[in-house]
Amino acid sequence: MTESEETAQAREAEFWDEVVGAAQDSDEDLCVGKADMFDRTMPWLEYMDYPAFLQQVFDHIGIGPGMRVLDLGCGKGFLAAALAHRGAEVDAIDISPRSVARCRDRAALSGISERIRFHVMDCERLEFEDDSFDAVCGSFVLHHLDLGKVAGEIARTLKPSGRAAFIETFGLNPMLMLARATLPGRFGIEKASSEDEYPLDRQRIERLRAGFRGQVEAAFPTVVFARMGGYLPFLNNRPGLGLLKAFDRAAALPAFLRSWSYYGVLTMNRAPAAP
Ligand SMILES: C[S@@+](CC[C@H](N)C(=O)[O-])C[C@H]1O[C@@H](n2cnc3c(N)ncnc32)[C@H](O)[C@@H]1O
Repeated sequence: MTESEETAQAREAEFWDEVVGAAQDSDEDLCVGKADMFDRTMPWLEYMDYPAFLQQVFDHIGIGPGMRVLDLGCGKGFLAAALAHRGAEVDAIDISPRSVARCRDRAALSGISERIRFHVMDCERLEFEDDSFDAVCGSFVLHHLDLGKVAGEIARTLKPSGRAAFIETFGLNPMLMLARATLPGRFGIEKASSEDEYPLDRQRIERLRAGFRGQVEAAFPTVVFARMGGYLPFLNNRPGLGLLKAFDRAAALPAFLRSWSYYGVLTMNRAPAAP
């Protein structure tokens, strides 16, 4: 690892350690229920239709009892808990020690500790054997990583015919990219992203494809575009948010507009074993 890569990674770990340390989550919200489809410590995810995106991840990897699944960049551990509730044996990893500690506490509160192993580990240098996992997944993590490196690591640790799916921030909508570059920190809009993240644009998706050497597709179960306007204080009210959501429902109709969504699901299929 170069010195600048090491610095960027230390900065990332420190950023997320601080975010998790500052979060005042109640035990009630941290406890993940069997049917939960979004993290209750982040209630806005329901408005952002997160359950539809998560369902697409579950459908793609075919989640079920006994599967061995790797959760990359587990953060506070909602996804790891949701996978474990569906019978998977989960390895949850993150570069931020505080995130991993929160993930562990959360698993205990949710009654599924015995199905999750917790690791402070770099997604770009996985300490797992080749062909270890039936599935690899993650939520809002790939766009923090060197995509060439992580794609190689996903391919290496997935079993032949294994599948991967990631809920990710996409950068295929020029209007959202402009808003992202100009608005946070101004007009009462909080700057919530770290310095080292880049939404998945075409070039980055190509980098993933080249590193993975398998099938990589972007899928958008619904469109989350106008809803991002809810960050503007004057639209952050019941009628404003309702209107923005209605606009998104209409925008989801023509297929070509779907990739304008702020986020989507990146699906990956490893090739079957050679005969
Ligand atoms: C946006 S947060 C997402 C957390 C969680 N998956 C969620 O959906 O709430 C990104 C996470 O990726 C982790 N991360 C960033 N770079 C990483 C790396 N190189 N290896 C492992 N984890 C990393 C961060 O520490 C952070 O917890």
